Amino acid sequence: MTETRPIRTFHPRRGRMGARHADAMAELWPAYGLTVEDGDRTPLDLDELFGRPAPKVLEIGFGMGDTTATMAGADPGRDYLAVEVHTPGIGNLLALIGERALTNIRVAHGDAMELARRLAPDSLAAVHVFFPDPWPKARHHKRRLIQPDNVRLLAQRLRPGGLLHCATDWPHYAEAMDRVLVAEAGLERSEAGSERPRTKFEERGVRAGRPITDLIFRRV
Ligand SMILES: C[S@@+](CC[C@H](N)C(=O)[O-])C[C@H]1O[C@@H](n2cnc3c(N)ncnc32)[C@H](O)[C@@H]1O
Repeated sequence: MTETRPIRTFHPRRGRMGARHADAMAELWPAYGLTVEDGDRTPLDLDELFGRPAPKVLEIGFGMGDTTATMAGADPGRDYLAVEVHTPGIGNLLALIGERALTNIRVAHGDAMELARRLAPDSLAAVHVFFPDPWPKARHHKRRLIQPDNVRLLAQRLRPGGLLHCATDWPHYAEAMDRVLVAEAGLERSEAGSERPRTKFEERGVRAGRPITDLIFRRV
């Protein structure tokens, strides 16, 4: 019997890794990296991973990681588990960790939803989904990250009061996200502020004249 593969929210793409990224991979991956294997359901103890019992933030699809490094640097009391499939981004975030001597980031390589399945319920203080791939064509909407099953799983991983913060520069996706988030019984709209550093993809959207929407929901 063949196992049905889950629908991917990303295109596998290969990127070149420059010397700075390759050096960071060699030096820092052993201490800061985590490989996420599809189908692995081994529970992941986040306090053990970070070596302390601090609030945990999951950052999904961090791109090149500049925003993650800035947020984590400004927020030393919380730990950031950053997950990405794109290899140059992994190398870049590891390089930033080294350059800024950040101790509160771990870099996971693989599918964020596979990683989320390994986390304990109520284990996260926040989940960040900043500028997820919009998949604008209707036949690709099923690949969008913010959809009911994924949101239910993320809501369950948040502790009560924990925040799911999504942002997008695609108005249609913003509307669809809002519908999905409102429909999830475990979440309610939050009045929390949406301050965050501007991300690389956000800059592209702003340059193209697209409006930015932040959606923040809290686990009830
Ligand atoms: C449009 S980029 C945004 C990057 C960054 N957050 C920013 O705002 O600049 C979306 C990123 O999400 C990553 N991604 C998509 N689906 C993912 C998944 N299931 N797990 C981990 N990363 C994912 C992609 O590889 C891509 O780098």
